[in-house]
Amino acid sequence: MRIAVLSGGDSPEREVSLASGRAVQAALEKLGHTVRPIDPGPDLPLRLAEEAPDFVWIALHGDKGENGSLQGLLDWMGLPYNGSGVTASALAMDKVAAKRLFVSENIPTPAYRVATAVPDLALSEAWSRDLGLPLVIKPADGGSTVGVTIARSIEGIPEAVRLALEYCRQVLIEQYIPGQEITVALLDGLVLPAIEIVPQGREFYDYEAKYAPGGSRHLIPPRLDADVLKASIDAAYRACQVVGSTGLVRADVRVDPQGRPWVLEVNTLPGMTSTSLAPEAAQAAGIDFEHLVQRIIDRSLD
Ligand code: DAL
Ligand code: MG
Repeated sequence: MRIAVLSGGDSPEREVSLASGRAVQAALEKLGHTVRPIDPGPDLPLRLAEEAPDFVWIALHGDKGENGSLQGLLDWMGLPYNGSGVTASALAMDKVAAKRLFVSENIPTPAYRVATAVPDLALSEAWSRDLGLPLVIKPADGGSTVGVTIARSIEGIPEAVRLALEYCRQVLIEQYIPGQEITVALLDGLVLPAIEIVPQGREFYDYEAKYAPGGSRHLIPPRLDADVLKASIDAAYRACQVVGSTGLVRADVRVDPQGRPWVLEVNTLPGMTSTSLAPEAAQAAGIDFEHLVQRIIDRSLD
């Protein structure tokens, strides 16, 4: 097949996307496909029309690659692609919209507030009174922990919101859940082995911990009692379902010291780099990277 691999773009996750794109391209070539890498810009529709590929592999993360707008363009052009469609992509990428859905479906998610401007100290104090400290402050539509701060004091909150506003118009102020970090990937609705993430020498699973080799340890299975693991997987599964995601998707969950799971978010275009979690989960289920890529293409074309 002739496959266009889209990676790069102008989102803050550009470098991650390039790494995902390289890994996917190498796999596609090994599988015998003809690959045309494209770093998308405003001329993307023209380039795709010229190329007329048989399949488009979206290896973009964040912004227009992940929020449904690219998916809408490809629908218009009649080009098949990997992953979720317009609605699921948009809902998952907008962390506020996703949280409202989680709440409406009784899927546990940390309590939160939304900001569109830098708060004063009185508002910061109100948030910390309602949600406790520390607070996790993040762009509502970001990824890879770009622009995320853990604010440990009331005074730190306005600056954290200001930083997040550099990346988006809406900022999520989220209750911090102490405990363990778990991620659960689904492949076509099939639950892959859960992974516990243990950041190495870092305060949380930030950009470095995600992408620097040795930045974090991944434990399969997670260090959780069977019933806690089951509840965590169930929450992750329901979160992926409620946004309507398809293909390969990954939900991130915190498990507090009482063993209660809290869904943070759903990633409809999970990273495909050499340190990425969803391919590792697939591998643990006996599906190696090349088979994973081919399977995703086959299912997307069904
Ligand atoms: N946003 C990154 C790429 C992930 O979810 O894996
Ligand atoms: Mg994400």
